[in-house]
Amino acid sequence: MIVAGNWKMNKTPSEAVAFVKELIPKLAGAKAEVVVGVPYVALPGVVEALKGTNIKVAAQNMHYEEKGAYTGEIAAGMLRDIGVDYVIIGHSERRQYFGETDVSVNKKVHAAIGAKLIPIVCVGESLEEREQGVTAEIVRRQVKIALLGVDRSLLLDSKLVIAYEPIWAIGTGKTATNEQADEVCRTIRALLAELYDKDAAAKVSIQYGGSVTAANAKELFAMPDINGGLVGGASLKADDFEVIANA
Ligand code: 13P
Repeated sequence: MIVAGNWKMNKTPSEAVAFVKELIPKLAGAKAEVVVGVPYVALPGVVEALKGTNIKVAAQNMHYEEKGAYTGEIAAGMLRDIGVDYVIIGHSERRQYFGETDVSVNKKVHAAIGAKLIPIVCVGESLEEREQGVTAEIVRRQVKIALLGVDRSLLLDSKLVIAYEPIWAIGTGKTATNEQADEVCRTIRALLAELYDKDAAAKVSIQYGGSVTAANAKELFAMPDINGGLVGGASLKADDFEVIANA
């Protein structure tokens, strides 16, 4: 079970450090692996503030090349060097606003793995795709391409996380029903079993994301194929994130 916050473009570095200091005692007893996904510039301070605690740190993006002439970009090795453990890859906002594709997601997954970061690979359908009845096809295609060439041992070691985030549920307050969310997570697990095998599929944490709140987290996380959540808005409030991480 992994509960990760995705702060998106929120909180300055000093606000971020103050916020995680507030989180530390609230989450000290959490049974789930707790992760905070913070903006690049807040990473060093947050990593430092969380040293020796049970809270892990994620970046929200990275470039797929190791280094080079990519002005403004950040490489996986740079993140690893400062003590980051996870990286969110292929969030729908990155796909929508920054032109990320399934192919670039796959390259980033390989680069993350190469730097010993755990990728949290985001997939999910638009409202139009859901209404057209192609959710399973879309999500299967996204996962299949994201994982091209990824070794089974990585899944067996639980070094890869998948987050199912229906785009229509992100930031809209329209949470998927428990059944809708679980159905797609089950589809993803079945695909992993098809691509690898049942043992490997069982070891992958599949998160649900999209308007997860303190009120609905417990029921969502109790569904058989949902192993935690990727939480946006509600991860910015310490009390809400506490309830969600302990759900
Ligand atoms: P909200 O929880 O704000 O809907 O955002 C979900 C999300 O995009 C997490 O990555």
